[in-house]
Amino acid sequence: MARDPAPPEVTGPTGVTDPTAVTDRSDGETPVVGPLDRGLTVLRAMSRPGNHRLRPSDLVHATGLARSTVDRVVATLVDLGHLRNAGRDVELAPRLMEFGNAYLRSCGLADPLRPFAESLADALDESVSVAVPDGKDAVRFITQVVRRRAMSPVFRTGDVLPADRCAPGALFAAGDPAPDWAVDDQRVEPGLIAAAVPVRDADGRTVCAMSVVSHTSRHTAESLAAVALPRLRELLPGMETAVAEARSRPGYDGPGTAPRSGRPDGAAKRELGAAYLQSLARGLDVLAALGSAPGGLTLARAAEVTGQPRATARRSLLSLEHLGYAESAGRRFRLLPRVLELGYAHLSGLGFTEIVGPHLEELAARVHESASIAVLDGGDIRYVARVPTYRIMSVNITVGTRFPAYATSMGRVLLAGLGARERAEQLAITELRPLTARTITDADAFGQVLDDAADRGYALVDEELEEGLRSLAVPLRDGAGRPVAALNVSTYTGRGTAEESRATLLPALTETAARIESELHIAFERRPLRLS
Ligand code: PHB
Repeated sequence: MARDPAPPEVTGPTGVTDPTAVTDRSDGETPVVGPLDRGLTVLRAMSRPGNHRLRPSDLVHATGLARSTVDRVVATLVDLGHLRNAGRDVELAPRLMEFGNAYLRSCGLADPLRPFAESLADALDESVSVAVPDGKDAVRFITQVVRRRAMSPVFRTGDVLPADRCAPGALFAAGDPAPDWAVDDQRVEPGLIAAAVPVRDADGRTVCAMSVVSHTSRHTAESLAAVALPRLRELLPGMETAVAEARSRPGYDGPGTAPRSGRPDGAAKRELGAAYLQSLARGLDVLAALGSAPGGLTLARAAEVTGQPRATARRSLLSLEHLGYAESAGRRFRLLPRVLELGYAHLSGLGFTEIVGPHLEELAARVHESASIAVLDGGDIRYVARVPTYRIMSVNITVGTRFPAYATSMGRVLLAGLGARERAEQLAITELRPLTARTITDADAFGQVLDDAADRGYALVDEELEEGLRSLAVPLRDGAGRPVAALNVSTYTGRGTAEESRATLLPALTETAARIESELHIAFERRPLRLS
């Protein structure tokens, strides 16, 4: 791996002062990597309610950083995909969830306890949450299973509550041995009540609390405790065994794998020049890498999986520890729940349409044509997102519009992605009716067209749905590689030959599809992908 050519960007008594330094967060002993600190300051500021989309000038006010610093930090974070430009504003981008996902994956609590929370929510028809201590004064949610939406808690995974006002906080505050249960009678919010029990690890330490949460319209605090506590107690031995097992699995102290990193340092540096803060990018890579092995990583392993020099990785690790995002236990560094404060609660609420929207806008603007996403629905495709361009001749398509799958480019890439049996089932319900003089109506020829689409990874349909209309589509695949939706651009035959359309549109389509897929994988890593 390349050696670190740049001088260390470190503030503090021991280090070289970075030219963009405006704050010195060092405590006299721990040098804090300045650009990493400032990058996290910007992300924290934008994670506060009402700040998810801001002008850079507002960020200057929100952070106290100089405008030139904000510009460099924002340019780097946009390049890494954690923020994105939205007109003259900048906003949180789904890739930022990578850090919260890393914590949730590696903490050995969220995954083993989720099934218990779900079965409890089903059994009681109430919301159930799992919370961990975040410092002395706060409690942070790492799981929320929500029931009865109308009168239900507003908290999301990643949200934080003051420890002295909620049931989990009462359990953590007492120290071990924690009380066996605690009840919250509307101390957080009028109407909101909760009953919680502590969950302990194999050493008997309280590591989290599971709460059943209800509303005064359904229960008093006493009646909630009466129904919820026996159920919680019944599940407790199973929950504690599940946590102990997750944490003793060989993988828990495993070696870890490299995070899905942004672009290589070199490429971004060349493009952004002095605006690119390499030590911010490297620090964030280390942050994501810590989640790759349950139980965290040693310094040597963190350096190895990020491909960074050991001294560079060490500075980042010590900074992250100092800033409260990681802790060291023995020789390993592991993530702390505070990483969830980096936009997680807000971003985990974004749906499919909100995530793909900006990408469709960008694609439509780039190729000056309408861009859409559709899913297979019976023998049809159904549009789930669309950005039209306004031309004289414009097809009237909106979200919800259906077309027969066989005559559309999106339908063909989706049919092409099916397994042999599913494809046969689909074709059995498909009547290849001629919609124009060019519609393929021969079953063998159509089968060949699907095979070609599967081989090439795209489909081009030329005037088979409507005269004058040409469209090109690529699949959008889930984490397991299955096409779940299709992305297309439609154009008019008057704009050039089919080969010209393919040559100009396909690169834009495949690049956009890759960006959408990578954001969807991160945003829906821990919840089911709902496409509409
Ligand atoms: C919640 O999960 O929403 C919750 C849990 C415990 C409380 C309050 C709210 O004390």
